[in-house]
Order: sequence, then structure tokens, then C-alpha cells
Amino acid sequence: MIAPSAWVERHLTFLSPGARVLDLACGSGRHARLLAAHGFSVVAVDRDGEALAGLSACAGVETRQLELEGERWPLAGERFGGIVVTNYLWRPRLGDVLAMLAPGGVLIYETFMLGNERYGKPSNPDFLLHPDELRMLAARAGLREIAFEQGETALPKPAMRQAICAVRD
Ligand SMILES: C[S@@+](CC[C@H](N)C(=O)[O-])C[C@H]1O[C@@H](n2cnc3c(N)ncnc32)[C@H](O)[C@@H]1O
Repeated sequence: MIAPSAWVERHLTFLSPGARVLDLACGSGRHARLLAAHGFSVVAVDRDGEALAGLSACAGVETRQLELEGERWPLAGERFGGIVVTNYLWRPRLGDVLAMLAPGGVLIYETFMLGNERYGKPSNPDFLLHPDELRMLAARAGLREIAFEQGETALPKPAMRQAICAVRD
């Protein structure tokens, strides 16, 4: 399994101890495992049942196999003290994702942005953030920005990425 994102590791400290944290589109759960190891109560969701199966024995992690891009938003009414999203973007639901942050809740989001097509996949603009997009999204949702970065990265491989950590005060 690939290592956790350095951005996620660096910003875990802003989550309240023991918070209920969502790992959205968790894949094989590198961040769900990291969060559980730090004592958070994790809800790990993905549509890939096989990926989730490998996580089911992990203490502190509840897995849910969900389709996140359907007509119905499967997490309606849920509240989380933290939301972690990496390497996943589905714009039509970004507002729903941020709406799940409880007061004091922290968003840690990192994914690819425009320009990444020079390096390979993802190259579909639907899956690439626009410059400053996460920053503007967080501001519109009333979140306070803790940290924001965007641009070329060398690690874990050359790419164009954007990342934010923001809190709902
Ligand atoms: C590139 S992986 C990222 C996994 C994880 N966040 C990470 O960074 O290691 C993207 C994940 O999004 C999930 N995914 C893609 N479309 C989805 C959908 N419509 N509903 C739920 N999960 C989806 C995939 O199954 C995959 O696990």
C-alpha cells in the first residue's frame, strides 16, 4: 500500500482528539488506517467493495460501500468532526461534502489540479481542480483556512496538486 499523504499526516493535529472522521473515497484505506491508529473513529466509504474488505478488520474503522456519484447523496444528514479526501473529485457533490462538517470540524483535502495532464492521469478536466478552487469552495462554505498549497509537486511523483486544511469555526 502506498504511504499516507504527507499533507494529511501534517494536518491531523488540527482534528479534535477522538473525533468521528470520514475518509471519503478511501480506496484501500491508507488514511482510514492512519486516522484509526491516531485514535479517531473512522467512517471509510468507497464504492469498491474489494478495497473495503481489506479494511473491515481494522479496529476503529467502519466501512460503508457507497456510490458517491448517484442521484441520491448517500451520506445525507451525517455529521463529522473531520473529513479527509485525497485523489478524488466529484464536483457536483462538493457542497454536500462540506455541509457534513460539524462545528469545529476540519476538512483535509488534497487532489490533482489543472496542469496534471502534462504528467499523466488524471487528465480529464472534470477530475482536476481549477486554480484556487478548494480555497474558494472553503470560503463559500464559511470555513476558515488553516493551510493551502497548490502547484507542481515532485513527490510521491511529479504532478500538479492542490491541498487545503480548513475548519468550520
Ligand atoms: C485514486 S483512488 C483514491 C483512494 C484514496 N483516497 C487514496 O488517496 O489512497 C479513488 C477512489 O475513489 C473511488 N471512487 C471513484 N468513484 C466513486 C464513486 N462514484 N463512488 C464511490 N467511490 C468512488 C474509487 O473506488 C477509488 O477507491
